[in-house]
Amino acid sequence: MDLSLKGKIAVVGGASQGIGYAIAHLLASEGASVAMVARKTEPLNEACQRITEETGAKTFAIAADIRKAGDCENITRSALEHFGQIDLLINNDGAPPLGEIQSFDDLAWHRAVEQNLMSVVRLTRGALPSMQKNGWGRIVNITALSAIQPIARFGLSVATWAGVIGYSKTLSLEIASQGITINTICPGRIATRRIGTVFGSGTPGQIDPEQLAQMTNQIPMGRIGEPNEIAGLVAFLCSPWAGYISGSVQHVDGGRHASLI
Ligand SMILES: NC(=O)c1ccc[n+]([C@@H]2O[C@H](COP(=O)([O-])OP(=O)(O)OC[C@H]3O[C@@H](n4cnc5c(N)ncnc54)[C@H](OP(=O)(O)O)[C@@H]3O)[C@@H](O)[C@H]2O)c1
Repeated sequence: MDLSLKGKIAVVGGASQGIGYAIAHLLASEGASVAMVARKTEPLNEACQRITEETGAKTFAIAADIRKAGDCENITRSALEHFGQIDLLINNDGAPPLGEIQSFDDLAWHRAVEQNLMSVVRLTRGALPSMQKNGWGRIVNITALSAIQPIARFGLSVATWAGVIGYSKTLSLEIASQGITINTICPGRIATRRIGTVFGSGTPGQIDPEQLAQMTNQIPMGRIGEPNEIAGLVAFLCSPWAGYISGSVQHVDGGRHASLI
């Protein structure tokens, strides 16, 4: 299947490692040029270099913190200055802290809204005019299964990503006639460094066999997913084959989502 991504220009958030890196790598392998975003310059530059070496694609590093309005503006402005247009926007990064939902003060809530919701609003606002000019575009948000199947202690993400789903569904209606789609992916447990931090020992990437067994017991497929299994759906949603899919919420979770829809 030709995904027709050759020559497309992508902006991918959280692209120095994990799910974002897998997305950037796959889009680059399919012929897209990729502006890659993360805060830490050195791992980001290394990731860009690796992807260019392995795929031959053009990459461009943009060091930015998507929790800051000015950085979001800078991401889309720099990508436009460097590549001339934006065709694909992948909203992905880290996540707010865990804890009982009643324990968070206004500042923690404000930060979570800036990180999970306002970054999507701002980056989309920055990328849309280029897509509208060309009459074609794809926006994909990476959230989490917990956004549609909440789990205790994930409240800041659950509440703010629910906002992302509401924003995206509404926007999908308003841009439906312009050749631009927006969809949201809700990953279940995926093997990245983050999984060790959140569900394992607290050390990135480290998870002991007992913790792993507990986690996989809750997954019908009996295993944790791979970043490429998220990237594959992103690439499909970015392709013309997915031109009739917009405003959707897709769970990629080894069968874990426990509901009919
Ligand atoms: N892994 C899972 O099991 C799983 C499951 C469901 C949902 N998710 C969600 O999927 C997303 C990606 O997860 P992951 O596992 O790939 O995480 P990861 O391995 O920790 O990677 C996160 C990426 O985002 C960047 N980042 C973090 N905060 C940022 C910020 N404020 N501004 C700009 N870049 C930022 C990081 O680089 P810097 O630190 O240099 O900024 C890194 O490139 C997260 O939102 C996560 O909650 C993950």
